[in-house]
Amino acid sequence: MTQDNNAVGKPLSRLEGKAKVTGEAAYAGDYQVPNLLYGYVVNSTITKGKIVSIDVSDAKSYNGVIAIFTHENRPDYASLDLKHADMDAPPGKVFKPLQNGDIKFHGQPIALVVATDFETARYASTLVKIKYEEQPFETDLEKNLGRAREPKKGLATALKPPPPKPKGDFEKAYEQSPFKVSTEFIHGTEHHNPIELFATTVVYEGDGKLTIYDKTQGTVNNQVYVANVFGLHYKDVRVLAPYVGGAFGSGLRPQYQLFLCAMAALELKRNVRLTLERKQMFSFSHRPQAHQILKFSADKEGMVTGLSHAAIGETSLYEDNIEIVSSWSNRLYPAENTHFEYKLVPLCLHSPIDMRAPGGSTGMHAIECTMDELAFKLNVDPLEFRLRNYAEMDPESEKPFTSKALRECYIKGAEKFGWHQRNPIPGSMSKGNKLIGYGMASGIWDAYQFPARVEASISSQGKLLISNATTDIGTGTLTVMTQIAADEFGLSIQDVSFVYGDSKQPFSMFQGGSAITASTGVAIVVAAKALKKKLIKKVKALANSPFHVFQDDAIVFRGGKMMVKHEPSVSISLEEIIVANKGRAIKTTNMGKPHLLKLRKYSKATHSAAFVEVEIDRELKTINVTRAVTAVAAGKIINPKTARSQILGSMVWSLSKALREETILDSTLGKYMNPNLAEYHIPVHADVHDFDVVFVEEKDELINELGVKGVGEIGLIAMPAAITNAIFHATGKRIYKLPIHFDELL
Ligand code: MOS
Repeated sequence: MTQDNNAVGKPLSRLEGKAKVTGEAAYAGDYQVPNLLYGYVVNSTITKGKIVSIDVSDAKSYNGVIAIFTHENRPDYASLDLKHADMDAPPGKVFKPLQNGDIKFHGQPIALVVATDFETARYASTLVKIKYEEQPFETDLEKNLGRAREPKKGLATALKPPPPKPKGDFEKAYEQSPFKVSTEFIHGTEHHNPIELFATTVVYEGDGKLTIYDKTQGTVNNQVYVANVFGLHYKDVRVLAPYVGGAFGSGLRPQYQLFLCAMAALELKRNVRLTLERKQMFSFSHRPQAHQILKFSADKEGMVTGLSHAAIGETSLYEDNIEIVSSWSNRLYPAENTHFEYKLVPLCLHSPIDMRAPGGSTGMHAIECTMDELAFKLNVDPLEFRLRNYAEMDPESEKPFTSKALRECYIKGAEKFGWHQRNPIPGSMSKGNKLIGYGMASGIWDAYQFPARVEASISSQGKLLISNATTDIGTGTLTVMTQIAADEFGLSIQDVSFVYGDSKQPFSMFQGGSAITASTGVAIVVAAKALKKKLIKKVKALANSPFHVFQDDAIVFRGGKMMVKHEPSVSISLEEIIVANKGRAIKTTNMGKPHLLKLRKYSKATHSAAFVEVEIDRELKTINVTRAVTAVAAGKIINPKTARSQILGSMVWSLSKALREETILDSTLGKYMNPNLAEYHIPVHADVHDFDVVFVEEKDELINELGVKGVGEIGLIAMPAAITNAIFHATGKRIYKLPIHFDELL
């Protein structure tokens, strides 16, 4: 065993990276199980109405078809009407397939064909004959803004509170301010497109017991969902997701293939797999359309006097999907007078679901573009404008931040980027036939921590085992947790195993909100400390133990040994402790949780600053993001490599959000028209140039035991606005709709 007390802070490569890129890693739709049946979903081809008749006779008699499920023969037990079927359910009624013949969105699953192989199921699905009665519908947010209403309140309100109450007298302040800007932003729909398709493999264990391989961000969430929906004991349902090929929010909630697959397995008492096709994934997972109206004002010194931000989002007919869109500006910029609104319009679309930096990336795009416009009116450099309005305390709550190194992000990011070379006059910078634009923006995201439980044990081989039900959706969780545990025990990472992605392990929330490093990480620290205490107690109790004359705090764990700090000759290896324990593992299970009482006195957030260079062709107006720097302050960085990859990924997504991704909705058909990766555009390698990440480490002793705030989503908050602002700087044109199309610059 080599000694390695500083795994934390090292840029380790992902421990599961090789398994993932060599095909060794199995995903939900890959598991080899015997006697497997395959499902294929039939989706509605209308947007709203009723199924008048559904004729499955031809499909049913096709060779190889085992069963067909529709609303007409759905088993009774799959109809339980539970209010909180999943932990991330917004207010309203959770959508469950096959409850009745009502159609509430295009692509709604209306039948499941189960056959001996996938191709048979897929072909037989085309033989199902459906007659519909169509009803009028609305799917276009822009045409329905007049129907906007307050969202309903529910359990999720705790994580997604409504916007803050107004302060001062905004209308008056705005009226009287010498500098003001009023803007209106439209954001189109975006769909999650993780490379791994949504899939579920259910192993029927007999007696109503299920082992489920599922594509999910939350094993426990989906375990509880299946138990609730089908009236099973939660201990009889085990959900595994050790590898997840991206998710970005689409796996925060159980998706309909899980429901259908579990139902078929229970009903047929067989092992069943259900894999959705790419186009089917466009029927259930998207970022909502949004319409935002902002009014910001400033005095002649360039100090912000008023902030007003009203946002309208889209939701479904059955749930109120809530995002935090309009609550951010006064957490960054002090203002005496504020007014914030957030409303929803129910449309005939499936409920939207969180997509990476939900709400934040939408709201902050509008906020930071409006700030840029106000800076321009004031004739103040946009960075100088932010620094002038820098909030030392959180202006919204009037509480101090647990830590806030946004100023350092501005300074270091600007330096790395070369912001001082910017000529403030739009269109003044060029290179040959290209107009050059520099743009910047700020970012803010919450620093979440969920309660989590961890089991820590010293195995019979003297190795450290850590387990927790969290998933690793490609973020580096396995690596980071191993590093945290290794340091707590003074072990090299080879001597630590982290077991995860399994609902049988101790509790974890879904991996979301950039919260898992803080959540599971803190639980590891708590459990490791408890385990060390237990080991010390055991060793001291041994006959003739040389340790019992020493205080507990004089004893340390290093290099696979327990030893006295100042007398290293007094030591015992972990293996010897286990031998003394008659070869039995020594374990403990503990809970890590946020220190809510203490934290109530503080505001907590991660921050970022993005700087972007664009090149725009003078004639063709094609837009190229040539350089970008994002500086991030997110507390302690456990692994600079995986953290950097998280931010780089979000920077590519920022480019994608600003210039590429767009689901086209034909509102006369109520249907998404480009549900495939050929027509749903994402950046390719040739689009991604010189992107760089700067971490400004914060020593945050208040936030949690690790000083960790979480990275990932913070990388997607600032840069879309920085790109939009750079396009203005290059061309003098403000574009208020995302994504930006080059023809809007012609
Ligand atoms: Mo993320 S949208 O919290 O998976």
